[in-house]
Amino acid sequence: MITAQSLSSLAAVRQLGRDELAALQLDRLRWTLEHVYNHSPVYKVKFEAAGVTPGDLKQLSDLSKFPFTLKGDLREHYPFGLFSVPMSQVVRVHASSGTTGKPTVVGYTKNDIDHWATCVARSIEAAGGRPGDRVQVAYGYGLFTGGLGAHYGAEKLGCTVIPMSGGQTEKQVQLLRDFESDIIMVTPSYMLNIADEIERQGIDPAALKLRLGIFGAEPWTDAMRKAIEARCCIDATDIYGLSEVMGPGVAQEFVESKDGPTIWEDHFYPEIIDPESGEVLPAGEEGELVFTSLTKEAFPIIRYRTRDLTSLLPGTESVMRRIAKITGRSDDMLIVRGVNVFPSQIEEILLQKHALAPHYQIELSRSGNMDEVLLHVESAPGAQDAGAQSEELQQLIKSYIGISCQMKLHEVGGIPRSEGKAKRVIDRR
Ligand code: DLL
Repeated sequence: MITAQSLSSLAAVRQLGRDELAALQLDRLRWTLEHVYNHSPVYKVKFEAAGVTPGDLKQLSDLSKFPFTLKGDLREHYPFGLFSVPMSQVVRVHASSGTTGKPTVVGYTKNDIDHWATCVARSIEAAGGRPGDRVQVAYGYGLFTGGLGAHYGAEKLGCTVIPMSGGQTEKQVQLLRDFESDIIMVTPSYMLNIADEIERQGIDPAALKLRLGIFGAEPWTDAMRKAIEARCCIDATDIYGLSEVMGPGVAQEFVESKDGPTIWEDHFYPEIIDPESGEVLPAGEEGELVFTSLTKEAFPIIRYRTRDLTSLLPGTESVMRRIAKITGRSDDMLIVRGVNVFPSQIEEILLQKHALAPHYQIELSRSGNMDEVLLHVESAPGAQDAGAQSEELQQLIKSYIGISCQMKLHEVGGIPRSEGKAKRVIDRR
């Protein structure tokens, strides 16, 4: 029998066999279903309405008989109604603000915090981090899970944490230089700002000790990865997570392969469903990612619909499966005159245009019954032919994505910068 402890090292994760993993998942899934059924009246009612009891889970695929959990369920039972332990056992809460309405609130027991730290420590190690590395945490601290999630994981791995939080870009660069940070954990869009600031201060990025960037909390493309790696002289890997499931460290890319985040499947069981029908899709097909937690006590979650669109891929560095880079969220998908568009598709093409900076915003409006798209782009510092490249971009978007957009070219620094998650879309419709 594998214990959580025996998998606390990345080496153990790499050696785990498929059958051992499946047996562990089945055990933990049974435990989780029993736990919510016995301790959360909300889940009990949901299970009864669907005509299932925990005993109906005979094999992993039986999970598909159980009902989904939606963001709306968290809102409906705001703030603590979905917790499955008494509040006296909850040592921390986090919340995600969302754009409208009540925040979604999650809670952790001491064991949950410990498992979370293990997942993030493992993530940092997979990203190439080692005990003794200095980790600058530039994800926001507070109710957002990014800062504290990264922090506890880095400490657990035995790193020196620099808890800088988001913002104060000049100071970020000062600390990178003076504290000789080896690793930075930050959103990819904010890393672009930091890269601009490194340049502005006339610092040679190759002279910094910085070696690794662990980027997540928002979609970003491989083109963006290459651009950041080249500009900052680092290896950049993708970290995925969401507060409803835990926070950062649900999945992490290995630096050796950079082929999509490996899901830490001993803690989170993934499924991909058809977002319309809710049916589980065969391996490899693209759909909506759904997670069930396997070890969480305070806020276990059953079949949570993430809205993230991706596919499940076989493991490469371990038996645990990977997710393909997230194309976007179903709620970020823009439908422009009937064509489905994700900001990441535009990003992929924009990054080919070197006279344009990698900062962009997509503004949508409606004229009569027609959707109009205005793409805000920015000249790269010192570029001579940004105007011509902006026109070429317009053409490429038309031919590769199939939408017509108007372009607005801004001066250097003209597009608002993010200090956390970038706001890519302004919808005025
Ligand atoms: O963003 C947790 C996190 C913090 C992950 C730091 C990684 C690093 P939420 O604020 O709840 O939690 O937002 C979760 O962000 O459903 C995805 O849509 C998106 N997301 C997170 N990581 C990635 C990623 C944190 N690597 C939502 N690629 C998720 C693409 C991501 N999207």
